[in-house]
Amino acid sequence: MKTLKVALLGCGNVGSQVARILTQDAAVLADRAGANLELAGIAVRNTAAKRDVDLPADLFTTDAEALVDGADIVIELLGGLEPAGSLIRRALSRGASVVTGNKALLAARGAELNALAFESGAQLRYEAAVAGAIPILRPISDSLSGDRITKVMGIVNGTTNFILDAMDTTGAAFEDVLGQAQDLGYAEADPTADVEGHDAAAKAAILASLAFHTDFSLEDVHCEGITKITAADVAAAKDAGMVIKLLAIAERGAKGIGVRVHPTLLRRNHPLAAVHGAFNAVFVEAENAGELMFYGAGAGGAPTASAVLGDTVAVARRVVSGGPLPAIAAQQKVQVMDFADIAT
Ligand code: HSE
Repeated sequence: MKTLKVALLGCGNVGSQVARILTQDAAVLADRAGANLELAGIAVRNTAAKRDVDLPADLFTTDAEALVDGADIVIELLGGLEPAGSLIRRALSRGASVVTGNKALLAARGAELNALAFESGAQLRYEAAVAGAIPILRPISDSLSGDRITKVMGIVNGTTNFILDAMDTTGAAFEDVLGQAQDLGYAEADPTADVEGHDAAAKAAILASLAFHTDFSLEDVHCEGITKITAADVAAAKDAGMVIKLLAIAERGAKGIGVRVHPTLLRRNHPLAAVHGAFNAVFVEAENAGELMFYGAGAGGAPTASAVLGDTVAVARRVVSGGPLPAIAAQQKVQVMDFADIAT
């Protein structure tokens, strides 16, 4: 059986779980992929740092570039724009495929990286970038490619859903539950990205790009967070039989496609109203499929690692089969709506 060298960039919450699964489930993954997935090394800033998972010390290196240069598949879990962006470009340029969960990078430079992957014949997959363990990117870009999606609407940030849900259940103020949400370990390094909606906006740009076969970046997304939501707002919504959720919404309207993130009032019998704690869910409407709902763990080490490994196996299968990459569907020219148009 062929052996594919896998370089792991980053060993945080998700990276350490990816390393664990690659090591512990090597035989199962090899069966599924049709190739041994050999963990060739893990690039980190500090090789001596304590890890969540016990891994051989000789796997760790600070030389990410050398690791990338020797790999067939690169798993990027560093987060942020740099050095992640340069390392992904380096991998793709030499024909190595990349699996990443880097939503910020994809929302900023997804079009450029997808084009580079296509030119070099490499694969770029990023199921883990949106809604953690939930398979949502492949369904909207692949399974629904014979349909026309009209709307994608989701709870795609676990931290803010936890906060709003706790405010709804206990009547607590935003400031009282922010700390609890951070303790769960789901919040971004800077939780401003969660509570101001930037994390959800990056995910909205990725969802919209795939659902509507065009390129949306962060600047195309109208974004409002939850920091101004008070206990009184939540109580008033509850009295009216509603709940406040931070939603990422991308929808086709008469004037084009609008993408936005903001706190939204939902009736309590809406499927998204039943999403509690740090869970995520994405509701999709398509012309022929009708309404679909995807639900599950949107963050956390092992759940997000599941999505990363799913992409890694898919990438490996194609590397092994040597099959041609599918042509990228022609990008549509669409009108991006501004918020004033969406709101009217
Ligand atoms: N900070 C993110 C969240 C992590 O709370 O959902 C997963 O992307």
